Amino acid sequence: MATLKEKRTCGQRCQDFGHFVWNSDEGKIMGRTPERWVYISLYYAAFYVVMTSLFSLAIYVLMYTLDPYTPDYQDRLKSPGVMVWPDTYNDEVLEINYNMSDKKDWMKMSKILQDFLIPYNDTKQSQCNHYNCTTGKYFFQHKFNAPKHTKWSCPFYQSTLGSCSGLDDHTFGYNTSQPCVIIKMNRVRQGYGRTIQRLIGRFEVIAHCSSQIINFLPNNGTGSAPYVNCTILEGEDNVRGYTYYPVNGSLDLSYFPYYGKLAQPTYVNPLVAVKFDLVNQRHAVIQCRLMANNIAYQNFYDPYEGKVIFHLKAFS
Ligand SMILES: *[C@@H]1O[C@H](CO)[C@@H](O)[C@H](O)[C@H]1NC(C)=O
Ligand SMILES: *[C@@H]1O[C@H](CO)[C@@H](O)[C@H](O)[C@H]1NC(C)=O
Ligand SMILES: *[C@@H]1O[C@H](CO)[C@@H](O)[C@H](O)[C@H]1NC(C)=O
Ligand SMILES: *[C@@H]1O[C@H](CO)[C@@H](O)[C@H](O)[C@H]1NC(C)=O
Ligand SMILES: *[C@@H]1O[C@H](CO)[C@@H](O)[C@H](O)[C@H]1NC(C)=O
Ligand SMILES: *[C@@H]1O[C@H](CO)[C@@H](O)[C@H](O)[C@H]1NC(C)=O
Ligand SMILES: *[C@@H]1O[C@H](CO)[C@@H](O)[C@H](O)[C@H]1NC(C)=O
Repeated sequence: MATLKEKRTCGQRCQDFGHFVWNSDEGKIMGRTPERWVYISLYYAAFYVVMTSLFSLAIYVLMYTLDPYTPDYQDRLKSPGVMVWPDTYNDEVLEINYNMSDKKDWMKMSKILQDFLIPYNDTKQSQCNHYNCTTGKYFFQHKFNAPKHTKWSCPFYQSTLGSCSGLDDHTFGYNTSQPCVIIKMNRVRQGYGRTIQRLIGRFEVIAHCSSQIINFLPNNGTGSAPYVNCTILEGEDNVRGYTYYPVNGSLDLSYFPYYGKLAQPTYVNPLVAVKFDLVNQRHAVIQCRLMANNIAYQNFYDPYEGKVIFHLKAFS
């Protein structure tokens, strides 16, 4: 104990520490011989390998026993998220700022949209999704009639987006004050969040939903199509008008319900493009909402639920 109370200078302490790190007298590193360190490392390595394998095995067994085609039983409908492209974020605010006189800048914007639309290429869609869908009707599929035990998906053609398709105008309007944005509704399907709960109620669930459609249907299956409605929150004077593609910003019913990635591997989300006509200061805050009576949009904790808010600003 006496040694503890002894006043020691800083230099001595440093020396002590140095001694602790590497004790040349006894050949110890941090109080242990290299040999012991090797043993300790090996022990921990083995320990973590075993733990990780056990964990992975448990997860694997859990996943394996779940029927991947069987969707969850949804007792509470979750509203779909809404996203906007170009997806140029600035901290937490979505800001679509561009300089229409700067070729490099508008090229960047149009490149983002062009890349985003690659899966919607008309040629690609007519090859992958050649099923003859009936527009204006839900596309219920109780059986797996498509090849390889899957279900059909309806095509969504890039050309549907008209002058915002990037086909006639490769710039998507970003070389002018009339830019296009693309709104996408995320797929509605529950994730693995309730896996445990699902496992417990598994037999009940399978009994419940075998060949029953329990996935999201906009407007509770009443047969009216959901649509995108954009409103100007700030800078109303700076927006002369806007146009939706397809007409009225509607998302055709034939894209619903979505049965999941495994059942519908070629599914593409329907899109809505909006072309804005900016004037004066050319700056506005815009909200685009997905309209359907069963889509919530006022979730404080999830600002992207059912809607998206973004700033749109054109410089010159
Ligand atoms: C926009 O680009 C033009 C041409 O490159 C440049 O002269 C102008 O200063 C830019 N405007 C802004 C606000 O950066
Ligand atoms: C769509 O795909 C076809 C064939 O792969 C290609 O020739 C065409 O240029 C693509 N169109 C666009 C707009 O990228
Ligand atoms: C799709 O259905 C429409 C209307 O029923 C029909 O005119 C068209 O020929 C069909 N196309 C194909 C490829 O079967
Ligand atoms: C913008 O690009 C389109 C398509 O390339 C072109 O037709 C149009 O004249 C351009 N507008 C301006 C202001 O450069
Ligand atoms: C739609 O379904 C939800 C959930 O079942 C229900 O709360 C809501 O009242 C229904 N709305 C209409 C218009 O039927
Ligand atoms: C779009 O939203 C605005 C503001 O909430 C509302 O006044 C308008 O009626 C809506 N338009 C449609 C077609 O739903
Ligand atoms: C678009 O909306 C208007 C007004 O609600 C309606 O009269 C028109 O039929 C709609 N067009 C399409 C293609 O749905």
